[in-house]
Amino acid sequence: MTDATDTLMIAAIQHEYGGAETISTGRIPVPAPGPKDVLIHVEAAAINPADVFLMRGVPRVLRLGSGLRRPRNPVRGSDAAGTVMEVGASVVGLSRGDRVFGAARGSLAQYATATAARLARLPDAVPPEHAAAVGMAGLAALHGLRAGGLEPVGAKPGGLESGARVLVNGASGGIGHLAVQLAAARGAHVTAVCSTRNVDWVRDLGAYRVVDYTRESLLDLGERFDLVFDNVGNHRIREMLALVADGGTLLPNSGVPGPDGGPMTRVAKAQWINLVTRGRRVTTFVSAPHREDLESLASMVAAGTLRPHLDTVFALTEASAALDRVAGHHAAGKVVVTP
Ligand SMILES: NC(=O)c1ccc[n+]([C@@H]2O[C@H](COP(=O)([O-])OP(=O)(O)OC[C@H]3O[C@@H](n4cnc5c(N)ncnc54)[C@H](OP(=O)(O)O)[C@@H]3O)[C@@H](O)[C@H]2O)c1
Repeated sequence: MTDATDTLMIAAIQHEYGGAETISTGRIPVPAPGPKDVLIHVEAAAINPADVFLMRGVPRVLRLGSGLRRPRNPVRGSDAAGTVMEVGASVVGLSRGDRVFGAARGSLAQYATATAARLARLPDAVPPEHAAAVGMAGLAALHGLRAGGLEPVGAKPGGLESGARVLVNGASGGIGHLAVQLAAARGAHVTAVCSTRNVDWVRDLGAYRVVDYTRESLLDLGERFDLVFDNVGNHRIREMLALVADGGTLLPNSGVPGPDGGPMTRVAKAQWINLVTRGRRVTTFVSAPHREDLESLASMVAAGTLRPHLDTVFALTEASAALDRVAGHHAAGKVVVTP
């Protein structure tokens, strides 16, 4: 274990918004944890589309929180797994040496601070790369299924019964591949949409049917689903609604611009279409770090019932390439960085 009394650390640093070329590796001071924070020695960090939005500073409204002209925190990355090195004065329940995972500030570095409440304990049986991989993506998969009426964890059944018909668009992505497994484990009949090269492993995740979008459009399936979890946004909400059965739900979950516009426009359209639609729901959700849900995901990974798929594991010095990989929208599963 490296000692946190080191004054400098290696980090992927960004001083201006832009593409992956604005990310370079350098030495900066180890961040100091606040009273509610812990300092983590990062063993693995996973990259999400949100890190790409923050890297680019687009949509621009994000800059209200991250810095108007340039990123206030020069280090990108949120998902982290590692070991607690220092504990803030008002933190209870975590001590130096504890292994944790969850949401941190600037995880593409040797050390990162994190609000203790946004972390969960990392079971010994779970490799840090897998824990980092199920942070934001696992929570979004779980919270999306829950928003659609399918309760993926716990004994309490949700609104959808076993055998519910669930369509996952973007089934090979960070969220999609976890949503397929969580829904299948809950007894849903999952139709998974991905491209040719991903068909076999996505079927192995428990999909009842796999649709290769390079050969068949999901709009031509001629089927109706109780829940349509759309992580891609490549079709209009109105077109996707035609896939939803009476009483069912459409979750437009993409933050990437598409035919319905950017994320803000898509949410506004979803709300409007929901208002004027009878018998079917269109709803969006915002996933946030939640300790009990992180613990549930970690238990499933430890038990082997949830299997994170790693697209690529990059070294910290290759953080720019890792962000570029996610920015390209074609990673299979999760992109992970190990300092
Ligand atoms: N609501 C929330 O709180 C929340 C939280 C986190 C993320 N999100 C949003 O959720 C979305 C998905 O995130 P993610 O991490 O899963 O993204 P991701 O991992 O970057 O998704 C990449 C995957 O998308 C697939 N894909 C690309 N084009 C496709 C198409 N036309 N049809 C089907 N699949 C296609 C790719 O497969 P191929 O290479 O085979 O094309 C690839 O496997 C993002 O837009 C993000 O902003 C929302």
